Amino acid sequence: MSIENGCNSRVMLRTEGIRRVFGSGSGAVTALDGIDLTIRQGTITALVGRSGSGKTTLLNILCALDEPTAGRVWWDGRDLTAMPEKQKNALRRREIGLVFQSFGLMPLMSAYENVEFGLRVAGVKAGRERVERALEWVGMKERMKHRPPELSGGEQQRVAIARAIAHEPRLLIADEPTAELDSRMGLQIIRVFRDLVKRLGTTVVLTTHDPGIMELVDQVIALEDGRIVKHAEMPAATRS
Ligand SMILES: Nc1ncnc2c1ncn2[C@@H]1O[C@H](COP(=O)(O)OP(=O)(O)OP(=O)(O)O)[C@@H](O)[C@H]1O
Ligand SMILES: [Mg+2]
Repeated sequence: MSIENGCNSRVMLRTEGIRRVFGSGSGAVTALDGIDLTIRQGTITALVGRSGSGKTTLLNILCALDEPTAGRVWWDGRDLTAMPEKQKNALRRREIGLVFQSFGLMPLMSAYENVEFGLRVAGVKAGRERVERALEWVGMKERMKHRPPELSGGEQQRVAIARAIAHEPRLLIADEPTAELDSRMGLQIIRVFRDLVKRLGTTVVLTTHDPGIMELVDQVIALEDGRIVKHAEMPAATRS
């Protein structure tokens, strides 16, 4: 297998015994219950599972937006769970790209300005070329002067993806990035992700309910009630 498959590449993310309990007493909800996983650099991983199975909770922990109740997360060999908040913030801004289930776009800014703002937050020089290129990747350059309320759900989702990848993050965390898109556009987005993996060695972790997308990733991890119930490496031949 090639390096691109991830078999020989370094480990980007590793978790050990992740638990996440929300609330306490009789109202406590165990969203994650002992998650051990390894994600190699330069791979695309899909987290799948029913609504409420813990996918978003796990993504939030992998990108240091949330802390586990127990367990550890290693980010490129560094213990994320022990990292000071300031360092975690810097990591999130510069090295991680985030696509949320609700897109999180600024409603008063145009698509262009949303991407430009994302680059500034990442501390990257927000040149016109860079902003436009990211919008072009997702097929939104023509509509870049429109504000989110003037765009369809799928178009907003694509702008959110452009914003998340414009600074070329090492890790891209995307919560249902293709949920609002038709299957053709969904495949186009996965192609954009695959291109980032090839060109930059980006690591992508996404969630999806779409069986077509599951066939195009490197590994699929299925969650049920906060536990991993299936872990499948996809054959390289199906992904080209
Ligand atoms: N902040 C919170 N407080 C209390 N319970 C929470 C919180 N966040 C998530 N949960 C609960 O944890 C469980 C897992 O939620 P999570 O959002 O991770 O599911 P999911 O797999 O992403 O679902 P979906 O496919 O609907 O997005 C659910 O039972 C949810 O109600
Ligand atoms: Mg979710």
